[in-house]
Amino acid sequence: MKTTPTHDLVKQSYASMLQAARQKTSCCGTTSAAARLAGYGEQEQHTEAASASFGCGNPLAFAGVKRGDTVLDLGSGAGLDLLLAAGKVGPSGKVIGVDMTNDMIAVARDNARKAGYDNIDVRCGLIEDLPVDTASVDWVISNCVINLSPDKPAVFREISRVMKPGARLSVSDIVVQELPDWIRNSAAAWSACVAGAISEQDYLEGLRAAGLEDVAVAERLVYDASQLRAILCEDIPGLDLQASQIDTLLEEYAGTVWSARFTARKPL
Ligand SMILES: C[S@@+](CC[C@H](N)C(=O)[O-])C[C@H]1O[C@@H](n2cnc3c(N)ncnc32)[C@H](O)[C@@H]1O
Repeated sequence: MKTTPTHDLVKQSYASMLQAARQKTSCCGTTSAAARLAGYGEQEQHTEAASASFGCGNPLAFAGVKRGDTVLDLGSGAGLDLLLAAGKVGPSGKVIGVDMTNDMIAVARDNARKAGYDNIDVRCGLIEDLPVDTASVDWVISNCVINLSPDKPAVFREISRVMKPGARLSVSDIVVQELPDWIRNSAAAWSACVAGAISEQDYLEGLRAAGLEDVAVAERLVYDASQLRAILCEDIPGLDLQASQIDTLLEEYAGTVWSARFTARKPL
């Protein structure tokens, strides 16, 4: 696995965040503010995976995944979406997770085993160079991961490569309209899924350029001032902002950052 310094930074951050989340699970668990804002309806039976959730949406909601399908989750983390997908595809289907952080992979495998699923396969690899066969999956899902990639066109190309003809995509991710340079250049803000985020327009164009069709935004959660405050203060502690700086940021940027769920299809 040939990583870049950005990959290494993100890996380190998620190994630490996972450790922090696991230390708190005995009490009440912890997730990112973005994950909490996304809210999940079906997660109650998967408390361990849910308590280490760093997503920003629910890519499986209304996705139409059916029994027997093969689902690929990019950046599967602690595995909540793997478990939810496994419930949908049933024993005749298959769920593949790809993640680059060894600790996340270990926890996801453990969560799959504890939930009794033997059709979840968690692989170590990069989403820019997927360890997945060409034209082999019915669904690509992902939850708050592609924003972290230093090479988004490569991710979009890889998604298109592994999809079967007619396969579908449902991806939740953070998008932004604009950000001040000092946030763009902050390593902490990159790891917190903000600094690396692209615009909704660039996302849509990237998916189309990779050869996908019916590319659309199925839903949006636009962060208002209080939600953006939670993301800035809880998810990016490394920014170390003063109250007055936060207020200025909220005035300028509330309403310009959101979680979008993208849908698309590989042509037949
Ligand atoms: C924000 S967390 C989301 C995890 C999970 N999808 C969820 O909803 O909880 C990002 C995850 O993606 C993984 N990741 C980030 N960039 C990656 C890359 N380029 N290749 C593979 N995995 C990556 C991280 O290791 C981490 O587990």
